[in-house]
Amino acid sequence: MSDVFSTAFRTGAVGALRSENAGERVRLVGWVHRRRDLGGLVFLDLRDRAGILQVSFDPAAAPAEVVKEARALGPEDVIQVEGTVEVRPGGKGNAELATGDVELRAESLTILQRADPLPIPVFRSPDEELPMEDLRLRYRYLDLRRPELQRNLLMRHKAARSVRGFLDAQGFIEVETPMLTRRTPEGARDYLVPSRVHPGEFFALPQSPQIYKQLLMVSGYDRYYQIVRCLRDEDLRADRQPEFTQIDAEMAFVEEDDVFRVGEQMIAKLWKDVLGVDLPTPFRRMTYDEALRYYGTDKPDLRFGLEIGDYTDILQATDFKIFSGSAGTGQRIRGFRVPGGAQLSRRELDELQEVAKKGGAPGALWVKRSEGAWAGQFAKALEGGAGEAFRKAAGMEDGDLFVGVVGYFRTAGAHGAELPALPKEEKPREGALDELRRHLGARMGLISADNHAWAWVTEFPMFEFDADAGRVMAAHHPFTAPHADDIERLHALTSDSSARTPDGAWRLYSAGLRSRAYDAVYNGNEMASGSVRIHDQELQRIVFRSLGLTEEEAKEKFGFLLEAFRYGAPPHAGFAFGFDRLTMLLAGVPSLRDVIAFPKTTAARALFEGAPAAVSDRELKELHIRTTSEEKK
Ligand code: AMO
Repeated sequence: MSDVFSTAFRTGAVGALRSENAGERVRLVGWVHRRRDLGGLVFLDLRDRAGILQVSFDPAAAPAEVVKEARALGPEDVIQVEGTVEVRPGGKGNAELATGDVELRAESLTILQRADPLPIPVFRSPDEELPMEDLRLRYRYLDLRRPELQRNLLMRHKAARSVRGFLDAQGFIEVETPMLTRRTPEGARDYLVPSRVHPGEFFALPQSPQIYKQLLMVSGYDRYYQIVRCLRDEDLRADRQPEFTQIDAEMAFVEEDDVFRVGEQMIAKLWKDVLGVDLPTPFRRMTYDEALRYYGTDKPDLRFGLEIGDYTDILQATDFKIFSGSAGTGQRIRGFRVPGGAQLSRRELDELQEVAKKGGAPGALWVKRSEGAWAGQFAKALEGGAGEAFRKAAGMEDGDLFVGVVGYFRTAGAHGAELPALPKEEKPREGALDELRRHLGARMGLISADNHAWAWVTEFPMFEFDADAGRVMAAHHPFTAPHADDIERLHALTSDSSARTPDGAWRLYSAGLRSRAYDAVYNGNEMASGSVRIHDQELQRIVFRSLGLTEEEAKEKFGFLLEAFRYGAPPHAGFAFGFDRLTMLLAGVPSLRDVIAFPKTTAARALFEGAPAAVSDRELKELHIRTTSEEKK
């Protein structure tokens, strides 16, 4: 046997041996995964990157001192063994190992390096729990030996290879962009790097290569991509890391559909290459407005129905206080039918209140239908004619449950397309319906593991409102083109000199202007964002102004981009997929940390190396920095 792993130390990899290799003499290296003594016989599981193989030390085949030495081996000692591959005697194969039909009958043993007692185990029996994550992150290099993590990193490698192959075949070229930059506009905090040679000046680490990729389009590179590290100083969650990787791409002379085609074909190939799954293309498309209206979120989980409907007109006309009292206020009543949901227990129905609260509503209202009658919180309201109208409108049948929420929503009535002027102090309630949908989708068993629901959500709003600062911000980033049908209104609202006052900002926001930004969503997760960009300097100026940037501020921040646009900027658009998130979902693991070799904790620390760390006064002085944090010294 010989393979790419064959070197001066070994004939090949441990994990590659199969029954075809029976009778071959091999020399193997690896780590002692675990050891078992059976009377005179010693068994080892020898592990390398490619797998695990059983090695037997039998006094009948190996000298007594070799067997004795084998008996003294400890977990994770690094050894070299030589011997013959043999088929395991009748019926004794191990179906859980790829090498399970064979074993190595060892004749000699060399200890290459002994391991100290381990702070965390590498081998674990199936019922043994993992050590605490902080401890595993402290000894990350050991935890990375676990076959599960090795599988994840191998999958990540395969995913990157698939993406590179696809984009290369589509005419994209990989261009590296700087890490020491002027700040980039993704809306998180920057990591700053002090300049030693320019006292008091700082580089920013890039939150994304956004500006560079747009400049590359101006430079005529047409199709750019990069699998690139991005750095953002933001509050962390399981699906966020301070440094993470994007599949970042930009194309010239394209519109939304061109970008979607490339993005979805790339994903379809990725799913095929890594999971062997055929994804249907094109992906479903829906506008932001539709996503919010029917699913309560801009990242809908489309693996199941439970679509939200608007029942305001019917229900406000009843004499149920909560409903009738909301009439004339701009509030609406929305909810969805849960087929078969009447079977939920009282406790499970009570739980829905907590779920709704998690989504920002004071509670949920439910009613169920059984044996032709209503039961539940607003059953009384449905006793008259309203009951039949509601039953028909919601499609309620015997055995169904209906769950609803009353309040303000971001989207208008059932047929209106415009955003209503939501009272400033009111929080919209679609989040509660989103939570309820996800909760009930899972509870009713509507989610199956082999369901892959991808979609593009389009026409995101142009602006977000920052209530604390009393100003609007770009919902995506300031280079995103406005929707063609909304440019006129943008002009009108922006020429208003009050655009920089809180009231003007609120008017701009609540006008519901749409942009040409889009997201790719998968099973209820945001996987990618992108947009058609502004390539016209005049329109870019107006957007900067609408964001409350003065001419000088815009020039100071992004002057070089405006300048570049003067010299022949092509229409362009692009996207960035979160590569860690993609790999996390491909691998079916719950945390980004499971697919990143050296991740940070949720407190933004690297535990094994102890970063961040204090630096000496001398170094600080060189950087022209004085810290106010006394205790670190
Ligand atoms: P955006 O900021 O939406 O867009 O990022 C794109 C995708 O990157 C992933 N992502 C993250 N993954 C892990 N940890 C994080 N902290 C994190 N932040 C974002 C998400 C997200 O969908 N320049 C634009 C793209 C463009 O317009 O072309 C951008 O960066 O999956």
